[in-house]
Amino acid sequence: MAEAASLLTIFGATGDLAQRMLLPSLYGLQRDGLLPPRLRILGTARTGQDTMAYRALVAKAIERHVPAGEQDAGVLAALLERIDYHPAALDDPEGLARLGGVVARMRAGGDVLYHLSTAPGWYAPVCAALGAHGLAGEGTRVMLEKPLGHDLASAVAINDDVGRFFDEERVFRVDHYLGKEGVQNLIALRFGNALFEPLWNARHIEQVQISVAETVGVEGRGDYYDGSGAMRDMLQNHLLQLLCLFASEPPSRFEPAAVRNEKLKVLHSLRPIGAAEVAAETVAGQYLAGAVDGVAVPGYRDELGRDSGTETFVALRAQVDNWRWKGVPFYLRTGKRMPRRCTEIHVQFRDVPHSIFDHGGARLQPNTLVIGLQPQEHIELRMMTKTPGLDRQGLRLSPVALDLDMQAEFGDLRRRPAYERLYLDALEGNGTLFVRRDETEAAWAWVDGIRDGWNAHQMAPRGYQAGTWGPARAVTLAERHGHAWRE
Ligand code: BG6
Repeated sequence: MAEAASLLTIFGATGDLAQRMLLPSLYGLQRDGLLPPRLRILGTARTGQDTMAYRALVAKAIERHVPAGEQDAGVLAALLERIDYHPAALDDPEGLARLGGVVARMRAGGDVLYHLSTAPGWYAPVCAALGAHGLAGEGTRVMLEKPLGHDLASAVAINDDVGRFFDEERVFRVDHYLGKEGVQNLIALRFGNALFEPLWNARHIEQVQISVAETVGVEGRGDYYDGSGAMRDMLQNHLLQLLCLFASEPPSRFEPAAVRNEKLKVLHSLRPIGAAEVAAETVAGQYLAGAVDGVAVPGYRDELGRDSGTETFVALRAQVDNWRWKGVPFYLRTGKRMPRRCTEIHVQFRDVPHSIFDHGGARLQPNTLVIGLQPQEHIELRMMTKTPGLDRQGLRLSPVALDLDMQAEFGDLRRRPAYERLYLDALEGNGTLFVRRDETEAAWAWVDGIRDGWNAHQMAPRGYQAGTWGPARAVTLAERHGHAWRE
């Protein structure tokens, strides 16, 4: 593994992501003594200000975004001590050259991690400038934020541009879902227990649902979001990554190549959904005015201030064509302005082959496993048990849940925001929880096929009231196959 970086350079260091997520995560790592001891942090952005002014911004971001109980003046001072700021406009070659000089000085011969928390349009010029100043060679790595393109062709172009200066082992593509505790717990659940693996296949599993529901609307990000939509913003990355971790074969080790090779095989096994299938297998929706948590909210177009054909909801039935999963539908669904925020995976096992309890027409309910990732992490296994009491007709059964609440179980341990894990790993050069080039391109290829199908049929998103689970068509998508969404 690479040497721990001695310099972290954040491009876009004054932005919203930096203030809400990145700086608080660095604070968390500082607090727990997890930052490499020699690490310096260089923030850069267009804003002309000096280091003291930037440190004041950092302090304010931490005051606002770190829970009060975790704030500590000594920790903050130690973090600020590591931080410098140097302004640079990314379209100004001389400015970038001066920044290069600062980087060269500050890295003091050590490794550097560049975090490009900017619009992806800047990735190529920034990497080229770093290359031109001899700052992209050995011992440097680059961490890229999404969106990594808006289709396969643009993703390939970005990857090529970045790849000219940083070879693949030194590129860390962020999917922040991989940094979430709950998502890593999915890996632990699958590969840390012997119990599930024998059941984890088409012989025992009837259907799988992966839902990422949000209550928020587009929150002032309308310009970006409207050019993207739920399919590209959420499904291409977060949902497909969850599907990969759920459906992959066991990797031989928890290390970058092994984990990512197995995820890639899942992406390559996804049955294409094209023009002939989109009408039956996918549903796109756009929220109309409604109410979320009892509060009235405007429709998407009103929020955006213009007409739009962008989907804020997508549901589809995916199939993984390999021996393990042949015939098992994977229902994926994500949307904004849903009734509640939740990310969960719902697994329905097959019915018992023969019921010996055929009385009173009662049907046994199939076992289900729910892996709740957020807002609360929980694991729930539903099984049939005998209802206490006497019954003339035999045994009466009812479903009960074995419920593991991670908060209750590990209440005294801080649940860490995703970027703590991601920074820790990228600083140490460990790419296991980052997305490799071939994964992101395979995901784009699959999503492009669906979007081409939508375009071929000029499929417009269907309206759904804010505060509901999407268009009624999403319900029929599952019902047609004898399944129902978990709500
Ligand atoms: C981002 C999307 O990648 O993920 C946003 O761009 C979305 O639109 C966000 O709101 C959801 O992330 P989380 O961590 O709140 O589930």
